[in-house]
Amino acid sequence: RLGCCGAGPHVYAYKKTEHGNEGDTGMLVCKSSSYPPVTQWSWFRVVGDVSQPVVNGSEDRFFIKSDGNKTELRILSLHLEKDPGDYMCNGTNEKGDGNAVISLRVRSRLAALWPFLGIVAEVLVLVTIIFIYEKRRLPNQVPDDDDGGSAPLKSNATNYKDKNVRQRNAN
Ligand SMILES: *[C@@H]1O[C@H](CO)[C@@H](O)[C@H](O)[C@H]1NC(C)=O
Ligand SMILES: *[C@@H]1O[C@H](CO)[C@@H](O)[C@H](O)[C@H]1NC(C)=O
Ligand SMILES: *[C@@H]1O[C@H](CO)[C@@H](O)[C@H](O)[C@H]1NC(C)=O
Repeated sequence: RLGCCGAGPHVYAYKKTEHGNEGDTGMLVCKSSSYPPVTQWSWFRVVGDVSQPVVNGSEDRFFIKSDGNKTELRILSLHLEKDPGDYMCNGTNEKGDGNAVISLRVRSRLAALWPFLGIVAEVLVLVTIIFIYEKRRLPNQVPDDDDGGSAPLKSNATNYKDKNVRQRNAN
C-alpha cells in the first residue's frame, strides 16, 4: 500500500514498448520528476504474478545505471527466447515507491534481414528477365522478324509525331 494516494514518486517508462534485434543491446529507461526525488531504483522481471529482481551485472548481460531521476536497464546480446517480456522499474523516495512496466520485444536476426533479402530477390528476378530478353533478342536482329518489324515502325511513328509537335510549337 506504499504507493497509495500518490504519496510515492510518479515513475514512468520512457518507452512503454521497446524493440531490439537478437544479439543487439536492449535499453529500457524509466524516469521520475517527482519531489522528493527518487533515492533508490530497482528493476524486476515480471513473470506472471511474480516480480524477480534483476541483479546488476547478472549473467554478465544485465546492467543497471541509475542517476537521480532516471534509471537504465541495459541488456547485452539480446536473447530471442529468454529476454522478451515485461520489466518493471521501481523508484523509491522517502514517501513511498512508484513503478512502471516496459514490454521488451526481441526480433530474430533473420526477421531483420527479410527486407534486405526481398530487395536481393527483386534484383535477381530483374537481372534474369533482362538476361533472357537479351538472349532472345540477339539472334533475331533481322528487320522483318515479328519483334524487329514492329520496332522501327513504332519509332518512325514517334519521330513523325515528334516532328509534328515541334512544328506546331514553332508556328
Ligand atoms: C552496476 O554495475 C556497474 C559496473 O558493473 C556500475 O558501474 C553501476 O554503477 C552499477 N549500477 C548500480 C545501480 O549499482
Ligand atoms: C532531473 O531531470 C531534469 C530534466 O528532466 C534535470 O534537469 C535534473 O537535473 C534531474 N535531477 C536530478 C537530481 O538528476
Ligand atoms: C519497490 O522497491 C521498494 C524498496 O526496495 C520495495 O519496498 C517495494 O516493495 C517495491 N515495490 C514494488 C511494487 O515492487
